[in-house]
Amino acid sequence: MRRLWRWILVAFVWRAAREEEPGEERPPRIVPDGAPSPRAELVVVALLGLAALSAVAFIAVYAFDRIPDQTQYLGIALGCAFGFLAAALIVAAHHLVVTEELEEEYGRPHPGEADRVARVVTESGGRLRRRRLLAGAAGVATTAIGLAAIVPAASLGPIYNLGRFTRTPWRRGRRLVDQNGRPIRAAEIHPAELFTAYPEHADPEQLGAPVVLVKLEPDQLHLPPGRKGWAADGIVAYSKICTHAGCAIGLYRTPLFPPVDKPPGLVCPCHYSTFDPETGGTVVYGPAGRALPQLPLTIDGSGNLRAAGNFSGPVGPSWWGVRNRRVSS
Ligand code: FES
Repeated sequence: MRRLWRWILVAFVWRAAREEEPGEERPPRIVPDGAPSPRAELVVVALLGLAALSAVAFIAVYAFDRIPDQTQYLGIALGCAFGFLAAALIVAAHHLVVTEELEEEYGRPHPGEADRVARVVTESGGRLRRRRLLAGAAGVATTAIGLAAIVPAASLGPIYNLGRFTRTPWRRGRRLVDQNGRPIRAAEIHPAELFTAYPEHADPEQLGAPVVLVKLEPDQLHLPPGRKGWAADGIVAYSKICTHAGCAIGLYRTPLFPPVDKPPGLVCPCHYSTFDPETGGTVVYGPAGRALPQLPLTIDGSGNLRAAGNFSGPVGPSWWGVRNRRVSS
């Protein structure tokens, strides 16, 4: 911060030193004076405006993610923003900035050389007439492009209104039904098979709705402390949504020859994250960084499977602080 203030002070002093005293005689120009080019200035302003509009379009397309082919439009908008900015700089360099090439021998630095360089820079912009307009357009364009560069950071994770990420349709007593809404009986769940179930009378499209059911032998179960009784007659239920990137758990690996084969695993086919149903859905392989949330089960008097509560943790892909959140119904 102190360094920043020092630079601001240096710039202020340098600027003050550049102010001409009234009646002060101007030194002869170093850079030859160039003819003004109002049309080129307007072209530069227009190109900067188009760059700003393209950057704003990028932000708009990013915000409305229901637009079909969103990725392509994002690329086009950002490409146009940088393209128009580059075009504006090229036009300014060729038509608005006085340029000349000088060849000089390398030598020792002379006193006053820094001042001479500063004058060259100042005089190079001598052709500009609409300086404020150009500076304003450049400011708008760079601000819009800067915002377009920052906005995608919103995809790193939710910041507010986290309730919708921790709410699920499950609560104690809710029956498990199949895709046709028919209650699932515990006796229908057989070992080495994978079943998908949904909460009765709830929207099956919700992220927290689908669960996978597998049946294990009681001596296979090594659930985490506090989950005693979460399995019903050896049947365990886990969220069907992978905690890596949200794909559906669709495969169930079961050992064909248990003495040498790997233990059972719930597998996500997207990147092959594998979760252990015996130990509470812990990750045994793949990129997922968090266990599958487990749903406690119970069996009612009619032999139907019911939820005995809500999930052990938030459902779906992980985000900042997800481990510290509790789910709600
Ligand atoms: S989404 Fe499941 S492993 Fe990547």
